[in-house]
Amino acid sequence: MGIVLGIESSCDETAAAIVTTDRRIVAQRIASQDEEHAPYGGVVPEIAARAHAEKLAPMIAAVMDDAGLELSDLDAIAATAGPGLIGGVMVGLVSAKALAMASEVPLIAINHLEGHALSPRLADAELEFPYALLLVSGGHCQILRVDGVGKYRRLATTIDDALGEAFDKTAKILGLGYPGGPAVEKLAREGNPQAVPLPRPLVGSGEPHFSFAGLKSAVLRAKESGQHSDADIAASFQQAAVDCLLDRLSIAFDTMDDVPALVVAGGVAANQAVRGALETLAGERAMRFVAPPLALCTDNAAMIAWAGAERLASGQSDPLDIAARPRWPLDPEAEPVRGAGYKA
Ligand code: KG4
Ligand code: ZN
Repeated sequence: MGIVLGIESSCDETAAAIVTTDRRIVAQRIASQDEEHAPYGGVVPEIAARAHAEKLAPMIAAVMDDAGLELSDLDAIAATAGPGLIGGVMVGLVSAKALAMASEVPLIAINHLEGHALSPRLADAELEFPYALLLVSGGHCQILRVDGVGKYRRLATTIDDALGEAFDKTAKILGLGYPGGPAVEKLAREGNPQAVPLPRPLVGSGEPHFSFAGLKSAVLRAKESGQHSDADIAASFQQAAVDCLLDRLSIAFDTMDDVPALVVAGGVAANQAVRGALETLAGERAMRFVAPPLALCTDNAAMIAWAGAERLASGQSDPLDIAARPRWPLDPEAEPVRGAGYKA
């Protein structure tokens, strides 16, 4: 059994956790920066980096204390090394390097997306490779085939906005504040999902990619028309998003018919409408459906520690001079897709 400290600082959550290779979350702490960023309606990179720098060192000390462990008890220190806001990533990675050097514990540099991709295996010991993964977060919207640790094939990505970004922008249009996803979900419960005619971008196209920029613009027009209640707009937006996910996944499944499980991860996986629709889709295809508990869906350090534990179990670690990477695709072989704002 190995013990891994994980550190996450790639966006607006500062987090540290200790996880064992036999799937025990020994201790974890997380501090969101919502208050710091709320006045700006989105994450401000410089403010995020400073907040991580202030919060991380005491948080790591507290997590070690919660667990009753010394640095020398650890088998590895895992930190997010990208992709993300580079200032924050560097705060976490440099801290991990310093601790690894001081304690002579191996360093493991984790791709944040790999943290999300493997997080369902922390919660579910039965989940074996391969699985189909829908990764839906604030920065990404991808369909991946996961064949093993480090073995990811990207089948689809967004050609413009990520789904979480579309939720956040919808929230902004409706004056719901930041972060927007949970607020849109809550308001959508009071609305009629059929009330506002909204587009389903790329639905019906042969490749399973996503596009949400047009949907967001349609939400803005619906709001400006003054003809709809905010609850109806929220519900109709959420329904359009779910319809896009189901259609795109159906296309992706055509190229991976041997995959027995559908797994969802990332912040938007916290959305109950999304979870419910995916569960139904998986049922229709006789696939298992796996969604991590809500606290493992949004950014956290347990998923980073767990990805470290998976890499540790396969004998991997990284040199102390490894660099932080603002961009770091999970599948380097994937072809770029053309779109307004291409995301790796
Ligand atoms: O994975 P995550 O915490 O951070 C990134 O790596 O991006 O995802 C954050 C995103 C935000 O866009 C947030 O609005 C969205 O996930 N989100 C939700 C819900 N909870 C979080 N979107 C829809 N419904 C939710 N309940
Ligand atoms: Zn994330």
